[in-house]
Amino acid sequence: MLKKKEKDLVKRCFLDGKVVFLTGAGISLESGIPTFRGKGGLWERYDPDTYATIEGLASVLRRTPRKFVRFVEEFYEALLQAKPNPAHLALAALEKSGIMSGVITQNIDNLHQRAGCRTVVELHGNAFRVRCQRCATGIPLEAQRIREMVSLLGKNAHSYRSLLSIFARYCPRCGVALSGAAGNCAGRFRIDVVFFGEMLPEQEVARAYALIDRCRTLAVVGSSLVVYPAASLPLYAKQRGARVIEINAEPSALSAQIDYSFTGKAGVILPEILDVLKIAG
Ligand code: APR
Repeated sequence: MLKKKEKDLVKRCFLDGKVVFLTGAGISLESGIPTFRGKGGLWERYDPDTYATIEGLASVLRRTPRKFVRFVEEFYEALLQAKPNPAHLALAALEKSGIMSGVITQNIDNLHQRAGCRTVVELHGNAFRVRCQRCATGIPLEAQRIREMVSLLGKNAHSYRSLLSIFARYCPRCGVALSGAAGNCAGRFRIDVVFFGEMLPEQEVARAYALIDRCRTLAVVGSSLVVYPAASLPLYAKQRGARVIEINAEPSALSAQIDYSFTGKAGVILPEILDVLKIAG
């Protein structure tokens, strides 16, 4: 339950201009997707220096294909089952009411779009899309195709060569129609997620800065704020004169440097914020 001073702060922050959200894995925890660094998180069981880098993953695939397939199965398992939760829906309602001008997300789970948000900046890509490595054309990889792919990988986990040919089927060359909207440069498609050590998509970064430049409040939801460059955005917002608040189950790496931390679950606090603002969810 929000305290009186928190309700007043919500009114001050959310009714005096455009609000932008920056979200992390914590907003999707209540949809059943474990956070990366929390209990049961992917990085608790898999070393990110290996499994979050292209070189590391390629080497696991070559040397221990079964381990690679297990990782892909675990990676997609929760993503494929997840549905938007009340926190995602609250952001969509805030956008519809004109209070939120956009959400910048580090998540790759597509849940903001599925909740109905229209302006979504994806800093780390989207696990439900493949992208041409040459011309950057992006094409949706539907859940049904991912299920098919994961099942085929599981049946061929003993063979490096078979796994490569399965990937070639789901990530073909640009111009070989995937769902009708491909580019035509013959580059190879790959999953459209940003691995450790890779550059963030330039266009998305530019959109994120543009949104922050025009906002009065940046609200960070469910991010530990330890991964850069995303974690630099709250301090950039402060330099530009915006208020920065966060909604998190625990303190983040930047809690001491921002204006206010709402402590609790995003799926509880965000619907309460809608109530204070008298917006229907
Ligand atoms: N509501 C709000 N916050 C929550 C909730 C919840 N229900 N549950 C957990 N949290 C908070 C945690 O307290 C933590 O601060 O969510 C945060 C999750 O932190 P991380 O797992 O580090 O996720 P994130 O900040 O999104 O990670 C950034 O790291 O590995 C990479 O590329 C990956 O995009 C990811 C990036």
